[in-house]
Order: sequence, then structure tokens, then C-alpha cells
Amino acid sequence: MHNIVQNNITINNLPKINSFLFPEEYKILPNTSELFELEFAFYESKLLTKKEIIQRGAFFKSINGQDTNHYLICSNNSPLVWKGRSEITKAYFKEGNFSTGYATHGLFPYRGKFHPQLIKGLLNMLGLQQGDTVLDPMCGSGTLNVEASVIGIDSIGVEKSPFCILMSRVKHRCLRVNHKTLNSILENMTKNYKSLMKCKKIDSEFYSESCFNNEKAITLLAFLDAMGYARRCSKSIDILFPTVLKRYVGQINSFLQVRNKLNLKIGKAKFKLGDAMSLPIDDNSIDGIITSPPYSFAIDYAENDRPQLEYLGYNVSNLGNEMIGLKGRGIKEKLDNYFNDMNKALSEMSRVLKIGKYAVIIIGSNDVQTGGIRLETKVEEMAKNHSFVLDQKITKPIRGIQNTMRDEYILFLRKN
Ligand SMILES: C[S@@+](CC[C@H](N)C(=O)[O-])C[C@H]1O[C@@H](n2cnc3c(N)ncnc32)[C@H](O)[C@@H]1O
Repeated sequence: MHNIVQNNITINNLPKINSFLFPEEYKILPNTSELFELEFAFYESKLLTKKEIIQRGAFFKSINGQDTNHYLICSNNSPLVWKGRSEITKAYFKEGNFSTGYATHGLFPYRGKFHPQLIKGLLNMLGLQQGDTVLDPMCGSGTLNVEASVIGIDSIGVEKSPFCILMSRVKHRCLRVNHKTLNSILENMTKNYKSLMKCKKIDSEFYSESCFNNEKAITLLAFLDAMGYARRCSKSIDILFPTVLKRYVGQINSFLQVRNKLNLKIGKAKFKLGDAMSLPIDDNSIDGIITSPPYSFAIDYAENDRPQLEYLGYNVSNLGNEMIGLKGRGIKEKLDNYFNDMNKALSEMSRVLKIGKYAVIIIGSNDVQTGGIRLETKVEEMAKNHSFVLDQKITKPIRGIQNTMRDEYILFLRKN
């Protein structure tokens, strides 16, 4: 074998790439293998102080032997998450331990949700602080709101789907519950299950902002999760519901332990049923936006949640007709409508954002579906008409052989 001799470096003394990127005392998380993860770790090492990395960094394990909060939160995950699951599922959860499966992100597997660790990295890049308010105008399952709250930042989530509002609220409220609530959820499990099975019309009051009932709402989300799971695996909901609810309680409990130990101050979050094209938010009031819109019609977000929406008493077809990406017939009409709607959404993001602050948009294009039209390129062009300047663009690969989409793009748009 040849020795590669350059600056006295040879094949037998090649240094690890991390030693060039980070100071010796900085240790990155296990399983950090993707280039974009190293990129984010590098930005954190440059933009945050050591103390900040310990408190809110998303890509480091420790500094000078002191573990980061992110590492501790992820390491305390409940083993119930993968109890009784197949080997493939177990491997998936273990691998995603530091990136997707921590805090309350594992409650309800929402399709198309953010990569939570990446969102924490973005909050750090934007330099958002306690007292600031960050917005996701299409918040889905509330990933941004959970991540912001864990590092003490307040947030707002707007969504068209009432089921997403329920899910986001539960995931956020679970960060703040106490052990007494968790005990009563388990004590009343059978009684609550029977009443959910019998219920003809669900009362939405108990999952509203003002009358939110932790016990009832957490139980309802687990029930809706088990309902979807039962359809996918043809098992009965009677069998699945207790398993799902116990898994929820186990996960929340693990987070509470570490929350109390680290004395985390959880940020506030408000969720509003509304439209990204007409935001129920004041002008120039928001310190940062992080969002991921539908990637045109790649996923039908109304149809996907049909059983849950119908159980809650909503009309799925009406909802679909109001969602970005789903309007019209045929590819051309759908794409025209999509870009019109995205143009309105960009105009609204610009209106509510403070000058000089960032809207970060994560978007990918499925060329196979769009006939080669790149969504991110169009969004970049349209953003210019709404006082946005593109300061940075990061590429994130999408893994999985079933995915026809290869990359997602992270656009950093500054309001000028
Ligand atoms: C890519 S998903 C967002 C997922 C989210 N980031 C998460 O982590 O769960 C896009 C979301 O946009 C929502 N949506 C579609 N049209 C909307 C509209 N007009 N106003 C607000 N939300 C909308 C969909 O219901 C869907 O939840």
C-alpha cells in the first residue's frame, strides 16, 4: 500500500476529521455520521459558548467531560419505546435516539414531521433566546414548539388540521405535566377507554387552549394512535390501546425525570387553528420562523389522518380543499395552485416577522411527481418579492430506498 505523504500525514497516522473541526475537549454525539450533522455541529461550536452548548447544543455529547442537556435528555429514553417491537423497529429507534426519538417527539408517528435535532440546531443558528417568540405557520405535530420549549423559548404553532392542533398541544403540554397526572392516566385507563369507545360525538372543549385537560387529552391521543396502528397491523384496538398508552406514559415520565434533574425552564407555546395564508398574528411581532410546508402534493395530509379526523367529527374532503398542495386536478393545476398559495404564505411570513429576522424554510422536490419542477427554486424566487434575501442554503440528504426524493433544502431567508 502507498503512503500518502502530505504535511507529514501518512496513512498510518491520519487524524480524525473531528480533530480539525472541533477543540479537543468537544465530543460529538455517537452516531453522528452524516455530513450535514457535522456541518451543524461545526456551526454550534462557532456560534455558541461552551455553557450554551451544554444547555442547548444539539450535536455534542460533552465538553470537558460535562454531558450536554441534549445528551442527557436522549439517554434517559424509556425502554418501553421499543418493547415488543420488531428488530428493525428497535434498530430504528436506537439509531434515532439522539435525533428523533427523545422528549415527547415519539408520541404519535406523524408522517412528514421535522427531524427534531435539526430544529434545535436551527434555533441555535438563529440565535433565538428566552423571551423571543418563534413561529411555525404550518406546525403539523408541533416539533418546532417542543424543541423551542425544551430550551426555554416561547412559540406559536398555526395549523389547518384540528387533529394536528390536538397532537401539538398534547406533545407540548406533556413537557409540563407532573407525576400525579401520569399516575391518574394509568389508574383511569380502562374507564377512559370505555368512554372513548362509546362516544358518538367527541367534545373538543377539553383539548382547547383554555380548558385543556391533560389526562383526557393524552388518553385521547393514545387512543387515536392505537386506532391508526390497529388499521395498519390488523390487530384489535383493545389490545393495542393499553400498550400505546403505557408507552406514552413511559416516554413522558423519562422526560420528567431529566427535566426535574436539570431544572429545565419549559417555554410557553400557543397553538392556533388557522391558515398560513392569513395568519392570526400581528405585524412585525415574531423573532424567527422555522417551517416546512407541504412539498406540493407529495403527501395528502388530510387523507392521511382520515380516521382520526373523522373520529373527532371533521369533514376530511372540506379540509383537503383548504390545504396548501391539495387543491385542483391534474399536475399543472395543482402546481399552479400550490405556488399561488405558497406566495400568499410567504407574504404572511414576511408581514409577521420583525425586520432583520429569519424565516427558515425546509423544502424538497419530488421531481418524479412534479415533472422536473424544483419547488425550492420557485420558493427562493417568490421570496424576493416579499422583502426576503436568501443568506444561506444547506442541503440535507433524505435516506431510505423507498424515497424518490433525494434531498431537502434549508433556506435561510432574512427579512430585509
Ligand atoms: C410538512 S408538514 C409539517 C410537519 C411539521 N413540521 C412537523 O414537524 O410535524 C406540513 C403541514 O402543513 C399543514 N398545512 C397545509 N395547508 C395549510 C394551511 N393552509 N395553513 C396551515 N397549515 C397547513 C399540513 O396539515 C401539514 O401538517
